[in-house]
Amino acid sequence: MPIPRKKFVAGNWKMNMTSSEVAPYLEIFNREIETVENVDITLIPSFTALAKASEILDGTQKIRLGAQNMSPESKGAFTGEISVTMLRDLFVRFVLVGHSERRRLFGETDEMARRKIITALATEIRPILCIGETLEERQAGQEKTVLEGQLRGALEGLSKDQIDEIIVAYEPVWAIGTGLTATPAQAQEAHHFIRAYLSKTWGPEVSSRSRILYGGSVTSDNARVLLEQPDIDGALVGGASLDPRGFAEIVAAAVPAE
Ligand code: PGA
Repeated sequence: MPIPRKKFVAGNWKMNMTSSEVAPYLEIFNREIETVENVDITLIPSFTALAKASEILDGTQKIRLGAQNMSPESKGAFTGEISVTMLRDLFVRFVLVGHSERRRLFGETDEMARRKIITALATEIRPILCIGETLEERQAGQEKTVLEGQLRGALEGLSKDQIDEIIVAYEPVWAIGTGLTATPAQAQEAHHFIRAYLSKTWGPEVSSRSRILYGGSVTSDNARVLLEQPDIDGALVGGASLDPRGFAEIVAAAVPAE
């Protein structure tokens, strides 16, 4: 029997929450998740809130920290950028790469995602690679081609050991922040396809260990049924992670059944 994959739930605060809102949030969230076990929980605040969260959490293992972005360069004259070393300094363990908002609004390409992944891995920060198709691509029946292109563009040539450190998040663009969620069956089909690609390229052992998250309008109402799907190993939550109680309910939905 393969070892079951531990569920991973991450809250991406995007450009919300000031540093003064972090302590009240964590106070509630910590209380709500006190009895939760066997779920990996990660908060992904803005950079300023991240510094505050890091100070408060002080390296605790129960809630880990992720960053929303990072520079592919390691240091130097890159005004406005944040390096992996700066993230390490704040005990950051994960970084989002290729989020659809970065792709659509800031021109992030698969090649940039790939460079960030390589830089992050070299500093032992684990990338969460976000991929997903737009509504037009889905309507044209191209979603699998798009997903495969994004996976290949960001990951081709990486070793099995490197793939072991990467988490993939399937986030259909049409479901992000829109209130439209992929049906459990649509999400499962995409996740299965992603796992099959990982298996074809790096072998079944790597793919059976890889965690694949679903993101796009996940709420406490739909989390459980999504997380029950065999190839959905967690959730990347945007809007619903801003409310500490609601986010704690999503985390609770990821606790494995006895
Ligand atoms: P959403 O965002 O939950 O607000 O749809 C998800 C994401 O962008 O990661």
